[in-house]
Amino acid sequence: PSNNEREKGDKNMSIQTVMVIGAGQMGAGIAQVCAQAGYNVKMNDREEEALQKGKAGIEKRLTKAVEKEKMTASDCDATMQRLSMTTNLAEANDCDLVIEAVVENMDVKKQVFTALDTHAPKHAILASNTSSLPITEIAAATNRPERVIGMHFMNPVPVMKLVEIIRGLQTSHETYQAIHDMTLKLAKTPVEVRDFPGFVSNRVLMPMINEAIYTVYEGVANPQAVDDVMKLGMNHPMGPLTLADFIGLDTCLSIMEVLHEGFGDSKYRPCPLLRQYVQAGWLGKKSGRGFYQYEG
Ligand code: NAI
Repeated sequence: PSNNEREKGDKNMSIQTVMVIGAGQMGAGIAQVCAQAGYNVKMNDREEEALQKGKAGIEKRLTKAVEKEKMTASDCDATMQRLSMTTNLAEANDCDLVIEAVVENMDVKKQVFTALDTHAPKHAILASNTSSLPITEIAAATNRPERVIGMHFMNPVPVMKLVEIIRGLQTSHETYQAIHDMTLKLAKTPVEVRDFPGFVSNRVLMPMINEAIYTVYEGVANPQAVDDVMKLGMNHPMGPLTLADFIGLDTCLSIMEVLHEGFGDSKYRPCPLLRQYVQAGWLGKKSGRGFYQYEG
């Protein structure tokens, strides 16, 4: 259907074409699961290189799935066919849903949402994969706040079953329902939460990671020992510092700052060692070094 027809048929909000903004760790995973579920997906990033890297990662994961006989070669081809790439945000003009996964920074997200509001058709839902930033504030940067929502995927997206769905103050019931239904189509489990700093996931997880960093900072134990305690003693599948490296230390710091500012409680103060690692460019796995060192 043309954009006009779609806008008229507004009420049923059928989602067919999705744009994912940001082709980093999260964006590439989100694009992959959407394409696998049959949606047409446009991947967007401001960096051509990030798009190429994101696409290569998807291809590699799908090829592996075929090798392990978890997917047929023709499903793999069809999934890749549904994916396209662009550095031009204006190509959101035929999308029914846009999922933003750029850096965890309010100014950048607001800029993206304001631009999307002009490019995306009126009926389109604008979702953010933010880990902690207020959906209510992001929504207010657009003229369609009732169509803005948080769609918080977990890392790695193709593996993790949860999508935390965050209702901003202005989010409409129709928008919530459309995203809830789509999450089920992605074979994931939606959990509804209200818009409060860190939502549920990172309000509970991130203070634990920050505290683990404090134990290293204060010389209580080295990173491996901290991770061993939590893995072997608490049955966590992965220690908190390994997880922090995996999430990205810049993202961890941003989330702690959101919690600290949002609640005004000193229990959320970011550990100075975390801040220093980020200043050094030691961002974890994605930069090759964090609490651990990584090859390649
Ligand atoms: P990342 O650093 O891997 O990727 C971010 C990408 O966004 C980069 O490719 C960058 O070039 C691109 N970008 C930045 N500004 C842009 C713009 N204005 N327009 C288009 N592209 C732009 O970051 P990651 O880890 O993928 O995180 C993205 C978002 O997902 C953040 O909001 C983060 O809080 C959230 N998130 C992260 C999780 C994690 O475990 N890393 C888990 C769940 C959510």
